[in-house]
Amino acid sequence: MRGLAAASHPESDAIDVTANDLYGEGRWPEVFARLRRDDPVHYCPESFYGPYWSITRHADISHVEALPQLFSSSWTHGGITILHDDPDIQLPMFIAMDRPEHTAMRRTVSPAFSPSALTDHSAAIRARTIALLDSLPVGEPFDWVDRVSTELTTQMLATLFDFPWEDRRLLATWANWAGDFRAAVSPALRRKRQRILQQMVDYFGRLWEERRHAGLAPDLLSRMIHSDAMSNLRPQEFCGNLMLLVIGGTDTTRNSMTGLVVALEAFPENRALLDADRGLVVNAVSELVRWQTPLSHMRRTATEDTEIGGKAIRAGDKVVLWYNSANRDEAVFTDADRFDVTRPNARRHLAFGFGIHRCVGARLAELQLYILIEEILNRQMVVTPLHAPMRIPSPFANGYRKQMVSISRS
Ligand code: HEM
Repeated sequence: MRGLAAASHPESDAIDVTANDLYGEGRWPEVFARLRRDDPVHYCPESFYGPYWSITRHADISHVEALPQLFSSSWTHGGITILHDDPDIQLPMFIAMDRPEHTAMRRTVSPAFSPSALTDHSAAIRARTIALLDSLPVGEPFDWVDRVSTELTTQMLATLFDFPWEDRRLLATWANWAGDFRAAVSPALRRKRQRILQQMVDYFGRLWEERRHAGLAPDLLSRMIHSDAMSNLRPQEFCGNLMLLVIGGTDTTRNSMTGLVVALEAFPENRALLDADRGLVVNAVSELVRWQTPLSHMRRTATEDTEIGGKAIRAGDKVVLWYNSANRDEAVFTDADRFDVTRPNARRHLAFGFGIHRCVGARLAELQLYILIEEILNRQMVVTPLHAPMRIPSPFANGYRKQMVSISRS
């Protein structure tokens, strides 16, 4: 018996929002709109990922994130995605830890994303963005995901880690496989994913040894290795934290960079607004991250019996925070499905989460997006999609595998 939930929602009414097609076909907004309206804290007793609660409103998600002891992120409870952590690849990372372990590790990496660190990065990000945009073929079809979004974000991460430049695209391959939920449903893909992630563990293991002996250097990898909080980690734990930065640092920003092209195509009036007023670029970045919401969800596990929005939640229940839904919540965002660079409260989005785990790289992501938009405007570059984007069929990474475009100058 599941208290209020069972009483008001028999199993036949359950809505499972985890189907890959919902995301691959871009149909998720309508399903979440229905949930927000009819049953915003919704129990699904059966799914590929087992039973879970869907939390779909902005206010309820903020409530859960503000109580990290009651709603744990810990990998020991199953981690931060709806997919229970793969027991074959245990890579504990601090996003999937509670206090106090989380605090010490977060403190180690956060200086790399401070305002002064970002000021140091800013000129190099602009130079890389300019070089890349100027190298694009005018009037010839190419894939924006590969040539622009993936390349810029892997260059960024390689710089942050002082990662061997010629191998930088490995970072994108690892991020793709780490976040790939199709592997959960296919044994063949699962084995392939394991093999590829093992390559990552081996590669970073070698870098770890090298940097450990080399002494402290300014790159983030070296700072982690020589820190109090991380110097004694087991290799698996160290790799887990690197994987967190690899996924966090590439996948999410990359999907926002492609989201920009998709959003401007769907809502073209925004381009004229940006051309007329460069002061809107800062807000355009927030609006882009809201509208795209590159990570659809984070998951928590209840540590005690409690209640969310009048529904009884039991200790051990899986609670899924659907940021994609919160960011389309009509109670907060007027005409929420629209992309609108003048939206007055775009910054209230939850795409970076909220509370003690709020994205540590948020400012770096925003800076990269800001510079990309500004440099596109500076060049009067018009990016035209040649067909609909190929979306990632996943309830976790909300983005694009491919977006063929051609560019011209206005
Ligand atoms: C955490 C989203 C870019 C590194 C998170 C969380 C979300 C998120 C939703 C979890 C928040 C929570 O549980 O409350 C995004 C989005 C990005 C982005 C949408 C781009 C648009 C980045 C970048 C980096 C990064 C560029 C680093 C290079 C991290 C790390 C955490 C994190 C290390 C764990 C923080 C913690 O547990 O304390 N991010 N992220 N992210 N992100 Fe990002």
